[in-house]
Formats: sequence, structure tokens, C-alpha cells
Amino acid sequence: MKLSRRNFLALSCGAAGLVNTPLVLSGPVQAAEAKNVSPGLHQLAQIRKVDFGTCFSSHLIKGDPSYTDAVLANCGVIVPENEMKWEQLHPTAERFDFSKSDRLAEFASRNHLSLRGHTLVWHLQQPAWIKAIDGAASAERILIDHIETVVGRYSQSVSSWDVVNEAIEPSHGRRDGLRQTIWLDLLGPEYLDLAFYAAHAAAPECQLVYNDYSLELANREHGKRRYHTLKLLEGMLARGVPVHALGIQGHLPADVGQFDSDTFAEFLRNVSGLGLKVLITELDVSDRNLRSNTEYRDRKVAEVYQAFLETALDNPAVTGILTWGLSDRYSWLQENRPRDDKIPMRPLPLDANLERKQAWHAIAKVFSTDPTWSRGSSASD
Ligand code: G3I
Repeated sequence: MKLSRRNFLALSCGAAGLVNTPLVLSGPVQAAEAKNVSPGLHQLAQIRKVDFGTCFSSHLIKGDPSYTDAVLANCGVIVPENEMKWEQLHPTAERFDFSKSDRLAEFASRNHLSLRGHTLVWHLQQPAWIKAIDGAASAERILIDHIETVVGRYSQSVSSWDVVNEAIEPSHGRRDGLRQTIWLDLLGPEYLDLAFYAAHAAAPECQLVYNDYSLELANREHGKRRYHTLKLLEGMLARGVPVHALGIQGHLPADVGQFDSDTFAEFLRNVSGLGLKVLITELDVSDRNLRSNTEYRDRKVAEVYQAFLETALDNPAVTGILTWGLSDRYSWLQENRPRDDKIPMRPLPLDANLERKQAWHAIAKVFSTDPTWSRGSSASD
């Protein structure tokens, strides 16, 4: 991967950050080239002034050193895949268990990685005791206590939190498009404001994100979800709720025909027009509906990464790109959305042997070439 001199310059003084805390790299591309090691995706992402990372799990630190090395070679930010969810952090009403999340926080700190938190309020992966909460008063106390305890513990390590995850579900029939969850049932729509206020009080410097899925494609379902998400964010901002960014998960199908750049670009403009930043938080491209030929699948998956990221990075409000896994060796899709023919899926930038796929090169290409050079940088940057 040869970079132009101009991109070298940009990269050597690259600065990016999920919360505008510039990651100043000291000539990483020069360093990489000197070691005859081509730059990883995060180093390349600095050219576009964004961070690149992926979800990661604590058991892999010792359990899979080669995968961990690949993460370190390509990422500047990680997010726990499961370790900061209620079922792992708060297994009983009386007890928190930070053993796994602490291991990840220490790993991130030791390796100078930014750390995202995922997620403070969600309707899935909740421990059984949550169902026994009775009444609004105890629900509010429990929710605020959880957030204050968790966000407070990681106030110096987590730079960006998914405060509420997946609160929109239009099929549940509410005018506001909100998902029927235990928090909505007990506290009403105000639970979202409560969560963001509690997180902000516990870590005033931290970027607070609303995270959701199926916002990306040009179809009726995604259009309704975009509408309700924008209304939700507008209302929160109008009430002065401290929400700083929208997390767009980016779980995409490899059928590139469903992605329309203009539709997605308009949505990004609508979000950034509210003064919000945007993170792509869980990007992967599922090849489950493609015919089995590996070269064909890799090519189609790469095309979607390229089309999606070219559109995303055209909007300066997009400051971070995280995939949901770095290698086909570990993808939630394999267990949760497998191919009918059971052939191993290939949704991520590296294959199961940690080799760079067409998807990796497609992402690298988008990061390394900025046709519009429109992100407020200049040659002297
Ligand atoms: O921890 C238990 C373990 O004790 C038990 O032996 C094992 C038996 O299967 O299950 C383990 O729990 C699993 C958990 O991941 C931790 O590995 C659950 O079964 C499994 O369902 C759970 O899947 C996670 C999924 O969220 C749950 O909905 C995936 O790893 C994770 O990648 C996925 O991530 C979500 C994001 O958080 C939100 N956006 C969507 C994304 C994909 O669903």
C-alpha cells in the first residue's frame, strides 16, 4: 500500500478522536514503512481524521494472541463485545462483577487504545433479576445506580458510551416509534433522558451516544427507523439532554443494491445538522444471501464496505468507524445469522487466518484516498 506524499503528511500529523481528544501519531506511516510493515487500518484512517477499531473480548487477550496482535496492528479503539452489558456487569441486584471489563480497560490502557463503553441501557442481555423490578421508583433508583456505578468506575478509561441501545422499534406500534421494553414500561419515554443525565453527571467529559441499527438502507423499514430516530434525537436536544452523537451500527447485507448513497448521505446531513457527531459502531457485511463462491462473496462484501464508507466519510461529522469483529474467525453472524448452506461466513476485513481480504483493501482504499479532501484539512495540516 503506497501512500501519496500528501497522505504521508496528513497521517504523520494525523489527529482524530471519538471525543475530539486528538490522537497525535508520531509519523506512524513512516514508522511502519521503516519497519517494512504496511500501516494498519487505524493508521490509514488518520488520513481522513477518523478512528478505526472493533469490538473485542477479554478472553481473547490470552486466548488468541495472534488475533490480539491483528487487533493491535489495525485498531486505535476497542469496544467490549459483551463485558459491559448488564448480564455480565450486574449479575445480581446486589453485586457488580467488573473482572472482565476491568481486564479490557487495562488492555486498552496498556496498548494506548481508546475504549468505548457498550451499553448502559438495552432490552437484551439483561440479568433475570431485572424482571422483578416493581414500580417506577425502584426502576429509577436501579437504573441511575447502575449508570453512576459503571460510568463512574470507567470515567478515566472510557471516552465514549453507548448510553441507550436500540430503543426504536416502529413495529411495536407507538406513535413515537419506541420499543416496548421494561424500562419504557416502568419509567415511560423519560428513561432515555434519565440515562443520559446520569451518565453525564458521572463522567462530564465523556461522549454520550444513542446507538441503533437498520438506519442505513433505502427501504421502507429503515426509512421509518430513520424518521423516529431523528425525532427522538431532536426531542432530546430540545430538552437539553446531553446526547453528543448517534451510533449507526452498520450491520449491512452484501446485496449492495439495498444501499443508496444519496439516501444515507441525506440522513447523515440530517443528523449532523442537529449538531451531533456520528459513529459507525458495529460495521459488518453479511454474505449469507450470496452464492457460495468465495471470490464472488469477498468481492461483493468489499463493494459494500467501499460504497458505505465513501458515503459515510463524506460527512465530517463521522468521526469513528468500528467493525463488529476484525476477522471471520469471530463474528456474531456465524452463530446468529448463519448461511443456509452452513458454509463459514466472510463478513469482516480479515479472513479466519487473519489474512487481509478484499474488504480490508476496500476499507484501506477509502481511508487512503480522499477525493474531495473535504474534511477541513489542508496540505499544511
Ligand atoms: O456468557 C454465556 C456463557 O456463559 C454460555 O456458556 C454461552 C452459551 O451459549 O452463552 C454465553 O452468552 C452469550 C453472549 O453473547 C456472550 O458470549 C449469548 O449466548 C449470546 O447470545 C451473546 O451474543 C451476543 C449478542 O449481542 C446478544 O444479543 C453477541 O456476542 C454480540 O456480538 C451481540 O452484539 C450485539 C450488540 O451488543 C448490539 N447490536 C447488535 C449486536 C449483534 O447482535
